[in-house]
Amino acid sequence: MRVLIITSSPNKDGLTAACGEQARLGSVFSGVDTTVVNLNEMDIAMCKACDRGWGACRNQNVCQQKDDFQKLHITMNEMDGFIFVTPVYWWDMSESAKAFVDRLRRCEAFKKEGHYLSNKPFVCIAAAGGTGNGVVSCLTTMEKFVDHVKGLKYDFIGVTKRNKDYKLKTIYEAAKSMANELMQTRTI
Ligand SMILES: Cc1cc2nc3c(=O)[nH]c(=O)nc-3n(C[C@H](O)[C@H](O)[C@H](O)COP(=O)(O)O)c2cc1C
Repeated sequence: MRVLIITSSPNKDGLTAACGEQARLGSVFSGVDTTVVNLNEMDIAMCKACDRGWGACRNQNVCQQKDDFQKLHITMNEMDGFIFVTPVYWWDMSESAKAFVDRLRRCEAFKKEGHYLSNKPFVCIAAAGGTGNGVVSCLTTMEKFVDHVKGLKYDFIGVTKRNKDYKLKTIYEAAKSMANELMQTRTI
């Protein structure tokens, strides 16, 4: 069983990174093979809305814009569960998270078969380290994304400066729980 943790902050020592680390620790504790990627360290440009709105994403379910997106998209097919962490910027996901999500859902939403993400569990985490404003609307956007890619909604966790002490523990527990469930479904 494999879990992919996707983070999306430029800061290596901020709240998002702390959330990602707790997710990693919880996942590893349960014995799943755990990979962490940071979208800010990848070359993933924003969607170009090719060909008057829809490009190869609509009928061929691939993005025609060549960068690091393709490799990560294929990697997601090999994974069994996901933990997606974004800082809250402007009441929303970070720019790197938005760029990736925009392209990913275009490739997955209209697939007739061979979905990469359908029924795979997602834990979504929004880290609002400023006022705390926007944590709910950011999680709402993340929920729409999970819907669009036909994922399974495992948990949505909002983290702020005020609640981080217990929410970091919650993230550890959520990652552990999701990983345990994945391990239990493994066929021997
Ligand atoms: C452009 C920008 C917009 C932000 N907007 C919000 C916001 O709407 N609400 C909030 O609570 N914090 C906001 N913040 C603060 C970030 O959520 C906070 O810095 C968070 O801890 C970022 O995660 P990091 O420490 O992992 O980088 C914003 C920060 C930046 C840089």
